Amino acid sequence: MYRLLVLLLLIAANAQAIELKQSCPPSFEEREGRCYLVSRYQFFDSMQGKGVGGTHTGLPPIRDGFSPAQIDLGRYLFFDPILSRDHNLSCANCHQPQRGFSDGMGRSVGATGEPVKRGAPGLWNVGFLRRLFWDARATSLEEQARGPLFDPKEMANTPKQLLEDLSNSPEYEQLFATAFPEQDRAISISNVTLALAAFQSSLISLNSRYDQYALGYHQALSEQEIKGMNVYRSFVARCAECHTPPLFTNQQIAVIGTPEPEGLPLDIGAEATFDAPKLKGGFKVPSLRNIVNSGPYMHSGRFDNLEDAVRFYTQGRGHAVPEGVDMQIHWHIWEPNLSDQEITDIVAFLGALTDESLLPEIPTILPSGLMSLASTNQSLSPNANHKESEHE
Ligand code: HEC
Ligand code: HEC
Repeated sequence: MYRLLVLLLLIAANAQAIELKQSCPPSFEEREGRCYLVSRYQFFDSMQGKGVGGTHTGLPPIRDGFSPAQIDLGRYLFFDPILSRDHNLSCANCHQPQRGFSDGMGRSVGATGEPVKRGAPGLWNVGFLRRLFWDARATSLEEQARGPLFDPKEMANTPKQLLEDLSNSPEYEQLFATAFPEQDRAISISNVTLALAAFQSSLISLNSRYDQYALGYHQALSEQEIKGMNVYRSFVARCAECHTPPLFTNQQIAVIGTPEPEGLPLDIGAEATFDAPKLKGGFKVPSLRNIVNSGPYMHSGRFDNLEDAVRFYTQGRGHAVPEGVDMQIHWHIWEPNLSDQEITDIVAFLGALTDESLLPEIPTILPSGLMSLASTNQSLSPNANHKESEHE
């Protein structure tokens, strides 16, 4: 009886052997085995010389051209805690699909159980970004991924252990060989980061109610949202100068002088990346797509809700800069004197930037055999995961 049960279980397990997808994700079209983005925005000109805020502004180039298998392998890796030293943290712990690929915390918590320096940005449309991290210190998704993987405060892994763990998994051995068929030794750190980049570049959000409006369906926005959009684009508020459609970021660094959480020292941001004092307190302009789901807001999560984040802009240029700090606030940050009603209208408009229709499937079974934390409630608190692992 027992034997029969084991046999049945084995058959069941086998039946679930993981196979990588052979077709491109929605929004991508396949050409010669590679996936390329298709979007109506590609028919418009790029932003050059077009001013800002126009509904018919084109998209910058995206990282695409990955194979379906590479994208799908990246999806498994993204959700698999095997990437962390203690096998208890996946990328998805801090980039949760149901939270705009952020984690609901002001500052994320990793392997040490202590908050890291900054909050986790959302990852929708990240394939368009030329620089990564709040302080713009990485220039590719591959370079970026090495950050959390090997940071002692985040996933705390080492290249050696990561390669050993993946090579000890027959399932991964197979999947890497499928995704990188032309290579003898397919399991490598560069292939891990390439697959992660491929998956993240497939997180496309360009079909919100705002997009439907921009592309000609004028009923898609309510009257209040249209009012909010007009304030947003106005020369008084100037939001669109930096958070420029259609990505809702111009991808530049701006010094706007947001406050740190109570008691924390000033974060000099991009000054450190570029060794440029005029960028003290400068951060990458974040995209505002799916913004309602990715709070708290700003690099250190100082603002719990969107209303406070928007109100910051109308409280006076440099009002939160600590005394004695020389910060060169961007010239588009001024005192727009927005009324409460205008702030509420902008917040309503930001709500129309939500589109999660291409949310990827969260794997229920992982190649490592570990639990996908993102598919359980545990993922809502990385702290809880950490404490559990301490009891082991
Ligand atoms: C412990 C939580 C944590 C884990 C685990 C984690 N991240 Fe992050 N992620 C962050 C934080 C915090 C930042 C911002 C850090 C900064 O800017 O200094 C970030 C930034 C990023 C960015 C830059 C986004 C942008 O707009 O600039 C990408 C991409 C990213 N993470 C992908 C990943 C991937 C892929 C993994 C898994 C290999 C991962 N993260 C694991 C917390 C985490
Ligand atoms: C000069 C460029 C600039 C202008 C103008 C600007 N922003 Fe920002 N915005 C930024 C930067 C840079 C950040 C990140 C700052 C930080 O983390 O400290 C940011 C952050 C935000 C955030 C938080 C995003 C997140 O993911 O946490 C929101 C919301 C926001 N801006 C909305 C607006 C609105 C609404 C306006 C117009 C009233 C506006 N911004 C005008 C540059 C700008």
